[in-house]
This record gives sequence, structure tokens and C-alpha cells, in this order.
Amino acid sequence: MKPTVAVLPGDGIGPEVTAVALSVLQACLPVEVREGLIGGAAIDATGDPLPKATLEIVAQANAVFLGAVGGPKWDSAPARPEQGLLRLRRVLDVYANLRPARYLGLPVPLREGLARHANLLVVRELSGGVYFGEPRGLNENEAVNTWRQTADEVRRVAHVAFQQARKRRKLVTSVDKANVLEASALWRRVVTEIGREYPDVALEHRYVDATAFEMLRSPQHFDVILTDNLFGDILSDEAAAVAGSIGVLPSASLGPGAGIYEPVPGAAPDIAGRGVANPTGALLTIALMLDHAFARPDLARAVEGAVMATLREVRTPDVGGNGTTAQFASAVHRHLSWSRWSDVGEEPLPAADWGV
Ligand code: NAD
Ligand code: IPM
Ligand code: MN
Repeated sequence: MKPTVAVLPGDGIGPEVTAVALSVLQACLPVEVREGLIGGAAIDATGDPLPKATLEIVAQANAVFLGAVGGPKWDSAPARPEQGLLRLRRVLDVYANLRPARYLGLPVPLREGLARHANLLVVRELSGGVYFGEPRGLNENEAVNTWRQTADEVRRVAHVAFQQARKRRKLVTSVDKANVLEASALWRRVVTEIGREYPDVALEHRYVDATAFEMLRSPQHFDVILTDNLFGDILSDEAAAVAGSIGVLPSASLGPGAGIYEPVPGAAPDIAGRGVANPTGALLTIALMLDHAFARPDLARAVEGAVMATLREVRTPDVGGNGTTAQFASAVHRHLSWSRWSDVGEEPLPAADWGV
């Protein structure tokens, strides 16, 4: 039986990059695709950013692909599009969000010599922390959020980080604000305990403020950055500085069941509908799906190779070119079929080892 993939295109450039990603997935693997609404598109159709029909599709899926949610249109809506994604993460209990970022040969806002050797993986705790803590609320004069972090939440994501580090350069940098926050003090204590189970992996603790600077000064230092939900959100966008654009970053949100495969960038309302969204993050997210959901590293490397080859030819405006999403998509398909059908005569595809 073909595996089932729930596809939730969402808002803004979400549908544009999802179409490209899905066409490449289908070129690689026979899958049953079931499409659902999420975010603003779902609010418009049903009033709910995560409607029941979508939950039913997701419950039967082997993997979920999510484009992006959000946009100014829903800024004052009673339910925000982002709530749909946050609820979906909770429903699937995806607690470990893997966000790899490495130099791709693209123009970068850092000194190129610094970025060139950067290859890092942010492991973001995705099911707890200040994103979900209760009580929370907002009235005329006051707002409250609660940063609650349990030892179990820290433990399970820490294991993921150490296991990933074993496959990479064997360094975990745990990032917190333990000099100020109790939630971070707990974080640091539990990560230290789990670290003892991985004596072959080096562990260092850093504060988030200093890390934000160090990631720009010496990005090549970092291997696995393990951090909570909020700091992980911020630091993973910062990691785009070594890759060239937020638009190229992929992610996989993993838990006990089906994972959510969600590119890091958002709905990019400023460029939506113009056909110039960079689909690289979405395509590399398909590679993560092929690795993690379908145990097909061969296909994952083929997709990455085709994307790397395409980046030498077609660049969208966010990475300094004037290429379109459609041009990028057709070049990726061309490179993919080369890698599949020709074993002589064509230039070899570069290996793109994300180490994830
Ligand atoms: P954003 O990531 O949407 O955009 C930031 C900048 O990066 C913009 O200039 C945008 O044009 C550019 N960009 C992003 N993706 C790109 C791509 N694939 N190709 C080319 N350029 C790209 O962040 P934002 O503007 O802060 O947020 C817009 C909306 O998206 C908000 O509603 C936010 O909540 C939402 N958001 C959703 C997700 C998600 O669904 N996973 C992630 C982040 C933000
Ligand atoms: C991300 C996004 C989401 C987050 C939003 C849209 C809820 O910024 O995936 O990085 O903050 O987790
Ligand atoms: Mn984010």
C-alpha cells in the first residue's frame, strides 16, 4: 500500500512552494496525497485554523507536509492562523524540531570565509515552554504568558540532540538563559544529566544572548544547538545567515507518530502571488521527509543533489538572482531525472550531506 501524506499548503507563499515540493515528492515515491486546510485559508473557509476535516486527514497520514501559515489579513481575526500550526504540533506531539542550516554556496550576509565551513543543526523543543504555558491572556492593561518547562520535555528532546550529534561532529551546545530564568535552570540541569549518557559527545552550555552573537562571529564552531521552543524559533532564523536566505531552510518536527515536515520560513506576504518564492527550503524539507518518514536516504540525497545543482543555475531574488519559482522547479526535475536515468555523460551531482 502506498504511504499517505497529508499536505497542508496554508497561506501566502505556502501553496506556491508546496506545489513544487509535492511534485518532487511524487517524482520520487508513489504516495497517496490528501490535501487539507490550515491557517488563514482554513479560517476563511471554516472559521477555524485547524478544522476537524484536517485533523481527520492528519490522523491517517504517515507524514504531514505544511507550507506556511499567516499573513496580515488575519492579524485581527479572533483566531490567528498560527494557532492552527501550534495546535497541530500539539496534536501530533512533535516535540523535536530539527532545523539544519549550512553553507550552500549562495551569497551570505556574513563574511563568506566564515560561513563556508558552517554546518549546524538547531534542535528546538517544540511542545512546551512559553509557547504553551498556562495561564496566558491579554486584556486592556495587562498580558501574561507562562514559561513552564518540565524535566520530561527537556529529557526527550535532549536525547534527540545527542543522538543527532553522534551522527555529526559530536558537539552539543545547549542554549538557555539560566542566569535569569528558572525554566532555563531546569533545562541546564536536565541536559547535563542526559549528557552523561553520551560520554562520546561533548556538551557545552551557553547563554542565548552570547550565542546569538557567536553564531554570527564563528558559525563554524557550532554542530548541534539544543534549545527551547522560543530561543529555537529565533536562533533558527538567525542560522539562515550561513545559508543565505530564510527561504532555503528546511525542518522536520518529530514525535512518536507522524512527523510534520515544515519549511522554516513563513508565508512571506510581501512576495506571495508573484511567483518568485524560493522553494529550496520546501524541497530540502521533502528530503528530510524521505529520510525520516520513509527511510529512503537514497532518494533524500538525490533530491538534495538536484537542489544543489539547481542553485548553481537558477536563483530567486532572495538569494540575489532573478529566477522564478517555476524555473527553479523545472530545473530540479531535470536534475532529478538525470540522476535517475543517466549513469554516463552528465556531470556528477554534488553530495549535500546535511548530516541529519
Ligand atoms: P517570513 O518568513 O514569512 O518572511 C520573512 C522575510 O523572508 C520576508 O522578506 C520574505 O519575503 C522572505 N522569505 C521568506 N520565505 C521566503 C521564500 N521561500 N523565498 C523568498 N523569500 C522568502 O516571516 P514574517 O514576515 O515574519 O511572517 C509572515 C507571516 O508568516 C506571519 O504571519 C508569521 O506568523 C508567519 N510565519 C509562519 C511560519 C510557518 O508557517 N511555519 C513560519 C514563520 C512565520
Ligand atoms: C516557525 C514559526 C512558528 C513558530 C509560528 C508561525 C507559530 O515562526 O515555525 O518558526 O513560532 O513556531
Ligand atoms: Mn519562526
